Amino acid sequence: MIKKIYIYRAFERFWHWMQAFLIFLLAATGFEVHGSIKFFGYQNAVTYHQIAAYAFIVLIAFAIFWHLTSGQWKQYIPTRGNLRAQINYYLFGIFKHAPHPTKKTVLSKLNPLQKLVYLGLKILVIPVMVISGLLYMYYRYPQQNRIESLNIESLAPIAYIHTAGAFLLIAFIAAHVYLITTGSKVTSNLKAMITGYEDLDDGEKNEEKDIKDAILLKK
Ligand code: HEM
Repeated sequence: MIKKIYIYRAFERFWHWMQAFLIFLLAATGFEVHGSIKFFGYQNAVTYHQIAAYAFIVLIAFAIFWHLTSGQWKQYIPTRGNLRAQINYYLFGIFKHAPHPTKKTVLSKLNPLQKLVYLGLKILVIPVMVISGLLYMYYRYPQQNRIESLNIESLAPIAYIHTAGAFLLIAFIAAHVYLITTGSKVTSNLKAMITGYEDLDDGEKNEEKDIKDAILLKK
């Protein structure tokens, strides 16, 4: 039976939107530092990138605490069942209005493909961005103060890794924004992440409706 179900809690929504804002700001300022765009001015871009980076680290610390204390980390444990069906759905089924292969519930909000991608972001891409970013900060500035053992040349691999991670995150955001429009209605996923509530099948049978459907079928 389709019911309005509270699926995203307040902190989860705050974390999601704050993270979206900070990654957007980090990407915009980072690519200005990189030389790809001009918007804030180089010096401002450097300062804003640093401020956003520290805010991001604080947010990550709160998010880790929340995931551990609420048990929500279990949502990201990868599962193999339905993975192929989910990939087929995104490649083909979605264009033929096929039904979603995975049912969303409060205890299992993510489909198998989301579990895999989000886990990859959490344990690989974001840690790599934070570590390479911090190395970028703390490698460079002591070197400018002439600590000769820290050679500026060694910064190149860090810059490549950090920039590659930035491209990965941007590719993720592009796919993510497209995929949020593929819920039961174009806006239903977006609305759910704003209000916390989503129209979901609660698994209970609506006997009254079943009887009506059966009568209709017989006619
Ligand atoms: C806590 C996380 C992060 C830290 C500590 C951090 C730190 C830094 C630092 C110190 C720089 C060098 C700035 C300069 O040369 O003055 C930089 C560059 C950059 N950052 Fe980040 N950053 C973080 C996250 C991100 C994220 C999430 C993105 C993109 C989505 C990003 C994109 C970039 C880009 C594109 C550059 C330019 C790289 C280059 O041209 O070598 N950063 N970052």
